[in-house]
Order: sequence, then C-alpha cells, then structure tokens
Amino acid sequence: MAAASALCKKQQHSQKYGRIFKSRFGPQLVVSIADRDMVAEVLRAEGVAPQRANMASWKEYRDARGRATGLISAEGEEWLKMRSVLRQLIMRPRDIAVFSDDINGVVTDLVARVRALRSKQPDGLTVLNVNDLFFKYAMEGVALMLYERRLGCLEEQIPQPSLEYIAALHLMFSSFKTSMYAGAIPKWLRPLIPKPWKEFCHSWDGLFKFSQIHVDRKLSEIQAQVAAGQEVKGGLLTYLLVTKELTLEEIYANMTEMLLAGVDTTSFTLSWSTYLLALHPQVQQQIYEEVVSTLGHDKIPVSEDIPKMPLIRGLVKETLRLFPVLPGNGRITQKNLIVGGYLIPAGTQLALCHYTTSLDESGFPSATQFLPERWVRKDATDRVDNFGSIPFGYGIRSCVGRRIAELEMHLALTQLIQKFRIQVSPLTQEVRAITHGLLTPGAPINVLFVDRK
Ligand code: HEM
Repeated sequence: MAAASALCKKQQHSQKYGRIFKSRFGPQLVVSIADRDMVAEVLRAEGVAPQRANMASWKEYRDARGRATGLISAEGEEWLKMRSVLRQLIMRPRDIAVFSDDINGVVTDLVARVRALRSKQPDGLTVLNVNDLFFKYAMEGVALMLYERRLGCLEEQIPQPSLEYIAALHLMFSSFKTSMYAGAIPKWLRPLIPKPWKEFCHSWDGLFKFSQIHVDRKLSEIQAQVAAGQEVKGGLLTYLLVTKELTLEEIYANMTEMLLAGVDTTSFTLSWSTYLLALHPQVQQQIYEEVVSTLGHDKIPVSEDIPKMPLIRGLVKETLRLFPVLPGNGRITQKNLIVGGYLIPAGTQLALCHYTTSLDESGFPSATQFLPERWVRKDATDRVDNFGSIPFGYGIRSCVGRRIAELEMHLALTQLIQKFRIQVSPLTQEVRAITHGLLTPGAPINVLFVDRK
C-alpha cells in the first residue's frame, strides 16, 4: 500500500503548471519551485542572513507590545547575532546528547501514559488520537530542554498554566494560515474583519506570558544561588541568563518562538511515524529486531546508541520525507537570481515545495512507498539524495531545533518499538494529510499498543 498518495494543493499546481510557476497569496506574488535541482540552486546562492518570509505581522505585534524578535521573526544583523549564540549551544549533536537522561525521564512518563490511556479502553490496548499524547510528550520534552523544568503535561491532571499555554498554541495555529504571513489580510481590512488579528495578538500574549513565567523563575533561582555563594550550573537557559549574550527580552522572545516551533512539528512527526509503523508490520518487525539486537529488551537507549540503529534514523527521515511537517519553506531573494533559466528579481517571495520534491520518483524510486532502509548508507561514499527531502530546511537559516527534535523522536520511538507492537485500530480509517500551515493528519490516528513481552 502506498503510504502517501493524496496530493496537496502545491503538488496539484506543479502537475498543472510545471516545476516553477507564479501565483498570488493575497496581494503577494509568489514564485513556487517544485524541482530538487532548482531548490538547490536557490539555497546554494544564499547570503549570510537569508530571509524566509515577510514577518511584518510578527514584528508589528512585538513593536506594539515592546517585545523583542526571536530567531523566527528577526532579520539581518539582529538575527545573525542571536543565531550565532544559539547555534553554538544547540546545533551540534554532542551539545544535545547531554539531555538524553532528561528526555528519557519524559519517555518513561510517555510509556506510562500509553499504559494508562489504553487501560481505559474496552480492549485495554487502544490509544485514541495518538497525536494528543505526542503533543504532550513534545511539549514536555522541549520545555524541559528550554526551561530546565518539568511542566506536568503527561500527568493525569495537567497544571493550569500549561493548559493555558496549550490553548494559546491552538489559537495560534488556528489563526496561522491567515495571520502568520500577514500579507494575506491587508491592514486596512482589519476594522472590517477584526477577529484574526485579535486572535493572533491574544495568542502571542499567552505564549509570551508562559515563557516569561519560566524564564523569570529560573532567573530568581540563579540570583538566589549567587546570593548564597553557590555554584550556578544548568542548561541552555541558565547559560543565556548568566552570560547575558542575549538581552532578557531576546531570551523571552527566543524561548517563546522555540517552544512554538518545537511542539506540533515534533508531535505530528511522531504521530505519522507511529501510523506508518502500524500500517507496515514487516518494516516494524525489522526495526524491532535492530533495536533488540542493539539494546536487548530492557536497556534504555541513550543518544550514543542511536547511530548503532540506522533504521531508527531511517524511520524518522522516511516519515519526514513522506509527511514533511512543513510541506513548503520560503525564501525572499536578496539579489537577482536566475533559476531554471528564469530571472527572478531581488525581493521576490519564493515557495520551495518540499512535499513535491520529496515524492519525486527521480530522487526517490518507489517514492510513495514507506522504505526506511533507503536512508541506510551502504558505505561511507553512499549518500542519499540531499535537496529532494530537506524537512529541517537548509543552510545557515535551517531549523535550529533539529537536534533537539531528533533526540526526542529517536529516544521515544526506540522505546515504543522495544516495548510494544504497534497496530492500526479498526477505529482508524485511512488517514490522509491535510495542509493547515503544517501538514497534519486529517483524522485521528488511533493505534493499539500491544506488549511485546
Ligand atoms: C520534526 C521537528 C521539526 C521540523 C520538521 C522542523 C522544521 C523546520 C524548518 C523546515 C524550518 C525552516 C528552516 C529554513 O528556513 O531553512 C525550521 C526553523 C526553525 N525551527 Fe524547526 N523543526 C522542528 C522542530 C523544532 C524544534 C524542536 C525547535 C526548537 C527547540 C525548532 C525551532 C526552530 C526555529 C527557532 C526555527 C527558525 C530558525 C531561524 O530562522 O534561524 N524546530 N524548522
């Protein structure tokens, strides 16, 4: 069975109009590029501070509230400064490896939650709408790395501040389509259609408030430790607060934007992985055998174990190829560019259509099939296609949270595969992807977690 068959709008457009075409998004002209080599041409020509999209609405909110921009919304020098601080702290696998034990603590709670949820169902095996569970796991995991604190999202009763944050995040993604790239609703229309802008601001207020609570709490702890003459030790946030390489407002903004970027992306990918494993029992068995031969039945994996399990890495890569949670990415050209023989003037918004290129047969034979082993390198010279599937983006502006997301996903999937046989529930019809800003499951994914032992 083909794992990915439904075509999204951009794929339909590229079938109809070709691999490079112009269209309009509200008043904005957009040039879409749905060809691996042309995407490579654009990304290889990037300057030192690439621009992704028009972030005017994000900037407007921040100016109105006296807030700073974070990595997603900042541009130019401002962005470059923050990026060079953060990339040194979280972009190398070894910087993130130290979080293995912390994340494993969250995985333990995830596994316990699977058991608690399935015990509530008549068959004692089904977890309904698995994304709800992975959302809480991803939020707990990324917040632990960012705020150095557990939030309690995987407990039976979620604490009120975390519930309020979740509400603000849902609101943001419901207004995502219209508001994120503000060009879609011109400013003069706001008095006539006030709701999207109001919701957008309300949602940001909630997201910033949450980050500020946690940052301020950590700051008070550090101040108390200093006053008591104790050594101050900690992770990312402690480092940022102690070194003052970023201002306090910049820390609030980056913590806010990283948490926003790190929850749905990771949880949807985990949901798709689980669905694909359930649909393909033979592939799941192959990965299970690799996990058990590396770790046995009980050893808890740490980040050093992951390179020994190439199929776990292949599983995540193949999931993101079939269901890239950000199905497209953007760049604004900073100089005139010739792409595929067309002159594209500086200042043009480009849409790079990853969802199309990652399902292109020329880069990925049997492109709609779920084949994690296609990512396993046969030897040191064997490289799998690069620009066809770049779910974390590319280059200096690529995803700064990639290593965090990978650690969370690798550790969770390894333990779930080690402990459970994952099966599709009869309650689940075929789940197709829908694009709602992010590529999301169009229906709840309900799965059975059957104990392996
Ligand atoms: C499966 C998980 C994730 C996927 C697929 C993903 C994907 C992406 C993509 C495609 C971009 C744009 C890159 C570009 O323009 O070249 C991006 C940017 C970004 N991501 Fe992620 N992301 C994920 C998880 C995370 C996590 C966990 C965090 C935070 C801890 C995060 C933080 C960010 C930030 C801050 C940016 C903006 C970087 C900048 O502009 O300098 N992401 N992500």
